[in-house]
Amino acid sequence: MKVPYMDRRAEIERSLEIVAERIGDPAPAIYARLFAQRPEYERLFALDPTGAVRGNMLATALDAILDIAGPNAWGMNFLLAERVNHSGVNVPPTEFLLFVHAVRDTVRDVLADDWTEEMSGAWGGVLAQIEAASAEAG
Ligand code: HEM
Repeated sequence: MKVPYMDRRAEIERSLEIVAERIGDPAPAIYARLFAQRPEYERLFALDPTGAVRGNMLATALDAILDIAGPNAWGMNFLLAERVNHSGVNVPPTEFLLFVHAVRDTVRDVLADDWTEEMSGAWGGVLAQIEAASAEAG
């Protein structure tokens, strides 16, 4: 479903609120999903025993996603810059969006029956926008 631009941010926010109500911090579930798909990335966080870096990475990614869903004042530029920066920690640009997918898929699975068409459209629209901008950036 195509979600009106103005509603996308609210839909994504609502989905994240429900996740917080149900499981609290979603970071463990999101990173578990990423590492199940790409076990080799787990060791990149060997120097992050407390999870602080992973927490920051997720918080920043969510801020960027919410901005892209709304006014997109900085979110896409930031994401594209991080996409390049992450080559420095051996995450190729082609792999970067896996994390954004892991976030969306975790939210979807936690919501289960409460995952609505509007939420699906809002998350899917933002993902498609990020994918298009990434493809353009090369
Ligand atoms: C498969 C995808 C990704 C992997 C494997 C990955 C991996 C990493 C690693 C290993 C670090 C720590 C770097 C260091 O120790 O210097 C890091 C930091 C960071 N990543 Fe990612 N990343 C991914 C996607 C993303 C995405 C989509 C964002 C979105 C903005 C992002 C934002 C950040 C930020 C802001 C930091 C710095 C956090 C801090 O030091 O407090 N990453 N990432």
